Amino acid sequence: MPRKKSEPACSFCGRPASQVKRLISGINAYICDDCIKLAYNIISEEEETKKRFRTFHLPTPEEIKEFLDQYVVGQDRAKKAIAVAVYNHYKRLKNPPKDIELEKSNVLLIGPTGSGKTLIARTLAKMLDVPFAIYDVTSLTEAGYVGEDVENIFVRLLQAADYDLERAQMGIIYLDEIDKIAKPHGDNPSITRDVSGEGVQQALLKVLEANVVNVPPKGGRKHPEQEFIRFDTRDVLFIMGGAFVGLENIIKERLGKRAVGFLSEEDRGIKGTESVLRYVEPHDIIKFGFIPEFIGRVPVIATLDPLGVDDLVRILTEPKNAIVKQFKKYFEMEGVELVIEKSALRKIAEIAIQRGTGARGLRAILENALLDIMFKLPSMKDVKKIIIDEKVIAENALPLMVKRDIKKKAK
Ligand SMILES: Nc1ncnc2c1ncn2[C@@H]1O[C@H](COP(=O)(O)OP(=O)(O)OP(=O)(O)O)[C@@H](O)[C@H]1O
Ligand SMILES: [Mg+2]
Repeated sequence: MPRKKSEPACSFCGRPASQVKRLISGINAYICDDCIKLAYNIISEEEETKKRFRTFHLPTPEEIKEFLDQYVVGQDRAKKAIAVAVYNHYKRLKNPPKDIELEKSNVLLIGPTGSGKTLIARTLAKMLDVPFAIYDVTSLTEAGYVGEDVENIFVRLLQAADYDLERAQMGIIYLDEIDKIAKPHGDNPSITRDVSGEGVQQALLKVLEANVVNVPPKGGRKHPEQEFIRFDTRDVLFIMGGAFVGLENIIKERLGKRAVGFLSEEDRGIKGTESVLRYVEPHDIIKFGFIPEFIGRVPVIATLDPLGVDDLVRILTEPKNAIVKQFKKYFEMEGVELVIEKSALRKIAEIAIQRGTGARGLRAILENALLDIMFKLPSMKDVKKIIIDEKVIAENALPLMVKRDIKKKAK
């Protein structure tokens, strides 16, 4: 219906007075009854979220660490740093003090490949009752290049919060592989990006602190006709992680030769003792290829130690979903008991260390050693126990097989 020239219309939905039940006028605007209801619903939903947030159970740092302990072996300092950061983040949001503004403490995790960085993040995601998203920054690029814009990070958080914007804005983001956006420098010549990492750092800088960004609700590149969600990043906690290959040399250089003598390479391999990474200072990370403003927004730096033989043996056997437990289960489903001797476990750990892939290589080594036997097992009805010793791992020898008692079977 064409609108009469003089007829007032709702300033929100644009419908003229003749098409709505009520039109209320303000100083320079009108609002209709439908838009009032809609606005009211939005406000009450937000209130509801805030209330829910204030009442959910906030685990203490000790509880958070205890949960992490079930899955992540060792790395106590990193786990503690994360537990404290997560706890403080929510404490600050739950009861914002009036007399002082608490700033958030973004965290950076540095540790060798396969030492548990991503695992810590995944485990946190499992336990936290708040939106948590993991984002791999290698897919980020500067605007205009092939890849994703920084805004897409928040799409993940929105998804994790079931598109509840209020909750998403209080979430935690784990930015994985953060070292890959370093500027190229002498110690990481392997970087093959076509774009300098600095542009991505600049883009991230804007969202690390408080900023309102336009997020395309479904992700992807921005285009002009698209509708955006305005996402406030003020209360988002950022945890970042990376292996920072080459950083050790930068630290060693700074410390000087004398100071580094305290740890022989051999000691580190066997005991998995502390690495020189522990002595990292913000300046080293700048030298590695980060701009000072970026590092300045990450007040907590926690390092993970290289894993030694003992740690790797524990990783094989202790976590809730430990690899050895998983294989035992597979064998059990065939009615066979799998025994892996301690010496075999140590051998697996030693091979993993030689490969330099941390705990990541463990599964492949065991899988490889057990392949033949897993192939035959379902057709070998008379075996009740299989014993894996060091030779099976080191020399590909056949495992010891214990047969079922024939008499008993006949009963
Ligand atoms: N501390 C640990 N405790 C238990 N398992 C571990 C630990 N560290 C690594 N693992 C095992 O190794 C796998 C790889 O570890 P993770 O993905 O955490 O490595 P990362 O530190 O992120 O390495 P990268 O820098 O290469 O990404 C994990 O999925 C897990 O199975
Ligand atoms: Mg990782």
